[in-house]
Amino acid sequence: MSESLLQVHDLRTYYATREGNSVFAVDGVSLECREGEILGIAGESGCGKSTLALSLMGMYFRPLCYDRGTIQIGSTEITTLSPEQLRLTILGNEIAYIPQAAMNVLNPTQRIIHFIRDIIHEHGLDKSYDEIYELARERFAALNLPERVLRAYPIELSGGMKQRVVIGISSILDPRILIADEPTSALDVSTQKAVIKTLKKLFDEGFVRSIIFITHELQVLRHIADRIAVMYAGQIVETGTMEQILFKPLHPYSKALMDSIVVPEKEIKAKKLYGIPGDPPNLAEPIVGCRFADRCSYVTDECRIGDIAERSDGQQSYRCIHEPEQLRSWHGQSN
Ligand SMILES: Nc1ncnc2c1ncn2[C@@H]1O[C@H](COP(=O)(O)OP(=O)(O)O)[C@@H](O)[C@H]1O
Ligand SMILES: [Mg+2]
Repeated sequence: MSESLLQVHDLRTYYATREGNSVFAVDGVSLECREGEILGIAGESGCGKSTLALSLMGMYFRPLCYDRGTIQIGSTEITTLSPEQLRLTILGNEIAYIPQAAMNVLNPTQRIIHFIRDIIHEHGLDKSYDEIYELARERFAALNLPERVLRAYPIELSGGMKQRVVIGISSILDPRILIADEPTSALDVSTQKAVIKTLKKLFDEGFVRSIIFITHELQVLRHIADRIAVMYAGQIVETGTMEQILFKPLHPYSKALMDSIVVPEKEIKAKKLYGIPGDPPNLAEPIVGCRFADRCSYVTDECRIGDIAERSDGQQSYRCIHEPEQLRSWHGQSN
């Protein structure tokens, strides 16, 4: 079994709103990311994926607040660290985060290389401009990014190139884990492919040891993820290998998510495009029973009682009261 780089147990975090409500966007998440794997996190918009990413990085700045749970990165429990300790010891070198729409956060008035220099200095590394340029040049070359990009302003680059540049920059301190939040969203299919290729290259060249790839489009994980965690209404509702989640999902939400997309792969015989009826629950209100109950075709009275425990079927674990055999038969899966 490979080493665990990140271990999260029962994490609960919330937004303290101006109206005085608490929006529990991450509510009891347990998750592991192992060395040498690409872990996908998928779920509809608003289910808490970005909040989970920020929470994993220990970025608790109001309105985001920490409530309970543990986050172990390597051998360090990070929930007890100060922001300063986090910045100097963990962020950037243990774990790095590419935020959603990151390509838009590149400073338009700064050349890429100057942006990189500032990041390196912010992390307290004492390197000269020439050393930084050489480091960046080598890294960009390894990722098939042209050297001229280093001296370019963001406005001179296409959206896809900016995204690939951000990926290159995020890896410059050699983080063990890289979290990429919706790196392919809002890009056309061929640009998506180039971005995925850059992420894979980062991984294959050993610049990062694990990637957590967050997306609302489950199908983009087909060509990159080893394992997938499906998130719904602040919780992980199913975890399994890429094949299990895409081709033999157990949780009715994972199945609905798969059915709601058009997939070109011939293995998935999705002929129709189904939307998932209804809306996710309000995360500011206490939720009793299964969070998917109101939208699930297989709901029974028992689904609405108590907390739904996670159960496991070997590698595949899921949060639903129904038996795996029953779910497989409902989903029309042989076995
Ligand atoms: N600053 C905020 N204040 C209050 N609620 C927020 C804030 N940011 C996000 N949320 C809520 O938290 C939930 C999860 O959001 P988010 O993590 O962005 O989801 P995702 O990344 O899966 O689309 C949503 O219900 C969203 O409305
Ligand atoms: Mg998001």
